[in-house]
Amino acid sequence: MIQMFHVTKSYPGDPPVLTDLNLDIDKAEFVFLTGPSGAGKSTLLKLMFLAERPTRGQILIAGRNIARVRESSVPYLRRNIGVVFQDFKLLPTRTVAENVGFTLDVLGVPRDDVRDKSLKMLRRVGLEHKADVSPLKLSGGEQQRVSLARALVNDPAILLADEPTGNLDPALTVEIMNLLCDVNARGTTVVVATHDASLIARYQKRTLRLEKGSLVADEKGAKAARLMALEA
Ligand SMILES: Nc1ncnc2c1ncn2[C@@H]1O[C@H](COP(=O)(O)OP(=O)(O)OP(=O)(O)O)[C@@H](O)[C@H]1O
Ligand SMILES: [Mg+2]
Repeated sequence: MIQMFHVTKSYPGDPPVLTDLNLDIDKAEFVFLTGPSGAGKSTLLKLMFLAERPTRGQILIAGRNIARVRESSVPYLRRNIGVVFQDFKLLPTRTVAENVGFTLDVLGVPRDDVRDKSLKMLRRVGLEHKADVSPLKLSGGEQQRVSLARALVNDPAILLADEPTGNLDPALTVEIMNLLCDVNARGTTVVVATHDASLIARYQKRTLRLEKGSLVADEKGAKAARLMALEA
């Protein structure tokens, strides 16, 4: 579903942030992406979402080479990808429900359906009661859950989440992880960047570890969990 071949990414004027990266994530896989701060996790997710372009190498999403795709095709390709990024903010002039339904609106889904689907998604993240307030009135963790609802409302083939539980207490972290596992069980490919070693230890998923822009480990299930438990 997501393949990278010899991908290098440099931001202008700086040494490479990612160097000669190869990876292959299957359809309906659940993958944690971990590693120290500055290792390149967010950059890697941004490459998958075409928010950044690779300096070298090939990136295939669902078999299609996106490294050289025209800027005008980007919105179309993104329709199948839900994202939770810390710098993709909610729109302050719209209500929580309108934020969640925004993508569906753009796709021309009828207004009543949009409202319906948005409320259903908000219920799943435990925020139905906040549907009609401004996102400015929500806590950080609540905003994060609204972002997740917005990313999932369109039933995307791929979900990319950057520290989706970063601002949440342990109980909410479990709820959000359950939601991600549930979405994954229904066939969505899920990639979660996280610092949280205890999360990785608990959920026993494939774990890719980045250090200084290189993939240094790719472990499945129990082995990844053991390694992370040592670190936690
Ligand atoms: N837009 C940018 N322009 C220049 N350098 C950038 C940009 N975005 C990220 N970098 C640099 O790329 C490196 C990797 O950053 P990235 O955000 O991908 O790391 P990360 O693994 O997500 O870290 P964290 O765990 O702190 O979120 C860092 O050294 C950062 O300074
Ligand atoms: Mg990051």
